[in-house]
Amino acid sequence: MPILFDSEKQCFHLKNDQLSYVIGIEKDKYLTHRYFGKSLPFYAGSNSLQEIDRGFATNPDPTDRKFSLNSLPMETSSQGTGDHRISNYQIRSTNGANLTNFFYREHQITSEKKPLNGLPSLRNGQVTTLEISLYDEIQSLEMILVYSLYEEYPVITRSVRYLNHGTQSVYLENAGSMLMDLPRTDFDLITLNGAHTNEANIARQPLHSGIQKIESSRGTSSPQHQPFLALVEPSTTEFHGEVFAFHLIYSGNFTAQVEVEQYGSSRVQLGIQPETFEWCLKSTEIFQTPEVVLNYSTDGLNGMSQTFHRIYQNKLVPPTWQKKQRPVLLNTWEANYFDFHEKELLAQADLAKETGIELFVLDDGWFGQRNDDASSLGDWQENTEKLPQGIAGLADKIHQKELQFGLWFEPEMISKNSRLFEAHPDWVLQVPAYPMTEGRRQLVLDLSRRDVQDYLIDMLSGYLATGKIDYIKWDMNRHLTEVGSLAFPASQQKEIHHRYVLGLYRILETITSQFPACLFENCSSGGGRFDPGMMYYMPQTWTSDNSDALCRSQIQYGYSYLYPPVMMGAHVSPVPNHQVGRITPLQTRGLIAMSGNLGYELDLTNLPADEQTNIAEQIAFYKAHRSLFQFGRFYRLQPANDFFATAWLFVTEEEAAVIYFNGLARPAVPIHQLKTRYLEEQAIYQDLTTGQKISGAELNHAGITIPRIKEDFATLLFHWKKV
Ligand code: DGJ
Repeated sequence: MPILFDSEKQCFHLKNDQLSYVIGIEKDKYLTHRYFGKSLPFYAGSNSLQEIDRGFATNPDPTDRKFSLNSLPMETSSQGTGDHRISNYQIRSTNGANLTNFFYREHQITSEKKPLNGLPSLRNGQVTTLEISLYDEIQSLEMILVYSLYEEYPVITRSVRYLNHGTQSVYLENAGSMLMDLPRTDFDLITLNGAHTNEANIARQPLHSGIQKIESSRGTSSPQHQPFLALVEPSTTEFHGEVFAFHLIYSGNFTAQVEVEQYGSSRVQLGIQPETFEWCLKSTEIFQTPEVVLNYSTDGLNGMSQTFHRIYQNKLVPPTWQKKQRPVLLNTWEANYFDFHEKELLAQADLAKETGIELFVLDDGWFGQRNDDASSLGDWQENTEKLPQGIAGLADKIHQKELQFGLWFEPEMISKNSRLFEAHPDWVLQVPAYPMTEGRRQLVLDLSRRDVQDYLIDMLSGYLATGKIDYIKWDMNRHLTEVGSLAFPASQQKEIHHRYVLGLYRILETITSQFPACLFENCSSGGGRFDPGMMYYMPQTWTSDNSDALCRSQIQYGYSYLYPPVMMGAHVSPVPNHQVGRITPLQTRGLIAMSGNLGYELDLTNLPADEQTNIAEQIAFYKAHRSLFQFGRFYRLQPANDFFATAWLFVTEEEAAVIYFNGLARPAVPIHQLKTRYLEEQAIYQDLTTGQKISGAELNHAGITIPRIKEDFATLLFHWKKV
């Protein structure tokens, strides 16, 4: 049994070959955090709690002045009874007080992982689950801390269920997903931060006294911060060292924070952002929090990423897509924007077919009067001036060319200038009497409403039931404002942010399980909602609206901390690049896009013949090695230097490839022998260009010499087959 309860020592030991996690029960009441790290054969308790009578500390038992919540390492906690560090929950009762006293009551260990009610989570597998029930006798409230341990991964998931067994409603003002106190502070904190077109910048700073926090109150997880943090040793690199990583499976407002407290511990806490949240928990009702993935690595950040990549690919994305190859697509956005006619689309599709593209995706602009972004969201009827036989007619013609057909939607949005808005102004998020703030000339549908959810389910199922749509790009291009709902009473308005996310998940669950063969691509102006919550329903994301190869090398590098390349949509787009004006070689654009999930987003009818040929060659190469690029193990070999040079490796049992991006050419080129590090040492690899046979050990340790390159933004491919 990988989860053991030692009744004598009163502790739980969650253990697999790669990690151990120990929880204690103190004084039969308090759940304490005792250990998280390398796997231990058994836990004897050598790291006993340090009990000291400290100044200002309050004592639940006045006769025991050494015992205080002031410094006890906890597994969950709240303000009000002596723990003044950050809380994992805060509950207001009808008397207005914020006080609860949850004590250990019982626990249960089972050999499965159940899905979370209404929320995405890692799927069942070889998992053992521990549920620890804590109880507040005064208000008859129960809090169940749920831990699931995967046998084959250094991963534990955590979440909380709050249950009201009392007769009175209570208000959850904060319902965090996890909290733990690590007994040290000598960590660097890593987060991924950014902006629209500049996502997933890696930030790394030493922890310091006080609270370090990232969060979103934008209604989505946001491009500004990924719902992730990692604590690493200062000496940890991509290749070596200890990592404690935490990633929240949620697509709405979140908080991820660490508090370095007075006596040398670091409190980690993640969950729904409390400021924009409240939940009325009525008698007999249950509230389920989102789940956090805890990932432990002793092999540096690449070790962490290997685990995230494998577990997200095997246990998060929809089962149909876990092993299924993804088609090479052509997307119309940067080629046409809103301006197209079917004739042009078909001409592009002909060339797409010739170059080897497999999926033709019609982006924004196909419905209502959508000739710019000022109107028509919500009017999901095709514009017959652009598409004379509508979507069905276009899809048939595309299918006749033996291409798959994909379509763009932005279901959550509504334009003021739309028939839907005229018919249902009440369907918009709003606060009575206040103006509705527009973003990109659009408003947000109130997804907390069941009627709005059902309308979207019907509208999308209508399209999908025709059997003519093989792929949907699900976009979401603004953040939430005036987050109120006309369908809920005043007392529940602070629930709307979370209800919006639950509504979205209900729609996605219904549609994706009804049409599992349809490939869904998640998008929010690129990576605005690239989070594990969305990946549970949609196996790939349009990574960024920035398709410049240099910027993409950084953005994809950052996201690869968490997601494998197959989850990152990456397109070869025109030059000069539409976002930054940069001109990069087609070979570089191709290799950087192949380092994600390859697609094209340019007007093929407008390219010189030699570029069309080059694209056809790129696609043929990619298809010949698709399982390497889509399902091979991916390792970062070199973080970008001052000249933006970077490198990574793909490996399978059969072959391996290094993609080296040189960034800016520079004069005094230093010696550069790039080590592959992760090839099989005893295996022989044959270079597919030179025919040279080299041992994995030599490539790993002696490395490959990077030649001098007198050109900006050049990229090199080293490619071997294992012999
Ligand atoms: C934002 C997306 O990220 C783009 O790729 C494109 O689909 C536009 N929206 C369309 O409005």
